[in-house]
Amino acid sequence: MTLQEHTEILANLSHVVADMNYLVPMDERPRNYTFEPPAGIPRSNAEHAAHAVRIRDARPIAGSVSLDANGFALLQHKSAVKDFFDDEEVRRVYYPEVEAVVKAATGASRVHIFDHTTRRRVPDAETQADAPRQPVRRVHIDHTAKSGPQRVRDLLPDEADELLKGRVQVINLWRPIKGPLLDSPLAVCDATSIDFKDLVPSDLVYPHRVGETYSVKFNPAHRWYYVPRMRTDEALLLKCCDTAAGVPARYTPHSAFSDPTAPADAPPRESIEVRTLVFHPA
Ligand code: OGA
Ligand code: FE
Repeated sequence: MTLQEHTEILANLSHVVADMNYLVPMDERPRNYTFEPPAGIPRSNAEHAAHAVRIRDARPIAGSVSLDANGFALLQHKSAVKDFFDDEEVRRVYYPEVEAVVKAATGASRVHIFDHTTRRRVPDAETQADAPRQPVRRVHIDHTAKSGPQRVRDLLPDEADELLKGRVQVINLWRPIKGPLLDSPLAVCDATSIDFKDLVPSDLVYPHRVGETYSVKFNPAHRWYYVPRMRTDEALLLKCCDTAAGVPARYTPHSAFSDPTAPADAPPRESIEVRTLVFHPA
């Protein structure tokens, strides 16, 4: 399509305007703890600032966006899982489903699922020790150019050298557990609307390892999308990183946001995301 046609399509998509929390540029390297750090060390040394952005409806363009062209994809997929909060059922039933979906979407020969997270929003989660994982209201990318390949070395040490000769991606599959989802939807940023300089490598400190993620600086060029009233038979794929240098979309920022048009009594968000290593042999 022509640039003119593309501009018109974007202008006609329905949208909401909502705040996105971006990293305030800083001299130090951003560092966030996943647990209560030793006395005297702040949980995060980074500051975020809210920027109002336009977040467009992704459904009308779902047929024309792709993981390689935009860094995300929206697909239809019904899961057989009855209880997503049952880890055993998720591993037994959902992991094979996700593996098949990601293989079909990418053409990859191998998909290694390494992690999943369920989230259930509860009020005042910060003050409760055993609160469920909450929506993440900070623009970020889970893995970086460095930590993507490092995950392969950590998780598949015997095969890593061979696997890293080929193309490796980290792709998340995200879906609501209860729908239609109105509260705290997930927004994804078209990966081709970012400048690599917007991405700031950041430490994510776990008790036994330090992961690297990208924090993201504001740039008015960012194009944001979400799926209004997302259903449980829909899934968002988002590409965190990709070793293929020539592909337009390699790093996809994302964040939960508070939708100003959502009713006050919208049921609290429940969601699940699965993280996968995706392999294309050399
Ligand atoms: C993710 C993610 C945040 C959320 O799936 O990687 O950042 O609020 N999720 O669901
Ligand atoms: Fe994330």
